[in-house]
Amino acid sequence: MTTWSAPGKVFLFGEHAVVYGKPGIAMAIKPRVYVTVRKGNQSHYGKSPYIEACFKEMGVRGSIYINSQLPSSSGLGSSAAVTVATLAAINDEYNLGRNLEELADIAFLIEKNVQKGRASPTDTSVSAFGGMFFITEGRRRRLAPQNYNLVIGNSMVSHNTSRMVELVAELKKNNPDICNPVLEAIEGVTMEAMKYLHDPQRLGKLMDINHALLDAIGVGHPVLTRLVLAARVTGAYGAKTTGAGGGGCMIALTPKNFRNRIAGAIEVFDGRAIITSIDTEGVRKENDG
Ligand code: PMV
Repeated sequence: MTTWSAPGKVFLFGEHAVVYGKPGIAMAIKPRVYVTVRKGNQSHYGKSPYIEACFKEMGVRGSIYINSQLPSSSGLGSSAAVTVATLAAINDEYNLGRNLEELADIAFLIEKNVQKGRASPTDTSVSAFGGMFFITEGRRRRLAPQNYNLVIGNSMVSHNTSRMVELVAELKKNNPDICNPVLEAIEGVTMEAMKYLHDPQRLGKLMDINHALLDAIGVGHPVLTRLVLAARVTGAYGAKTTGAGGGGCMIALTPKNFRNRIAGAIEVFDGRAIITSIDTEGVRKENDG
């Protein structure tokens, strides 16, 4: 029996646009998913398509227990964290000798299959390696970790990533003249953000723009916008939807001494707040003791 954990993630910039080869910036965050795998001839892994695919890809059978601190279907990358931690645990339990790069690549293929061919390697890369990444055209580049103070607001409206990705694909197909310029503007915001990673005030303003652009391509939600406004009014540098949208979570970049106040405002507006910061560690073995 072996237990591995992997961190969740937030998109600071560029979600949805990354699906079309445009750049995105994402960061691993503290809540983790813990996965225990035990060898066995029988398969006990419920109905998750991600977990089923992990055992199939690795060519083994066994049972699994998951303990998640990350809310699922909320845009914090819980499916990627489960996939990465499951692959690492299987790899360890069965001594399969795959390295981390290989595991991250397999995890990406699994996510892509489950999401019907439309996915970026963002979630799986961040979960596997931890820290901060710039993703572009399907490739990942590690960025120097930044000590941002973040408050996440969970709208408690569950969303379906595949469905939201499909919605943007439909808009892109039916109204390319509307959708494509917005995706290009998101790219512009991400590239501008790359210049100011050390400057939370400027980044916050860019996050506000990114939020509006996500709304423009139809992946907003009134509850998310309410939480975004609550965070801005109480002193956040900026705030935006994070992940696939249509529900799920928003993030606010905040001055350190405003974190509690902003979290409080999010809760007043019926969101669940998580005060967090970067997790520089990716997937790791836990002590089963
Ligand atoms: O809902 P999440 O956190 O899995 O975010 C999805 C982000 C998208 O850009 C919409 C899809 C992707 O695979 O990058």
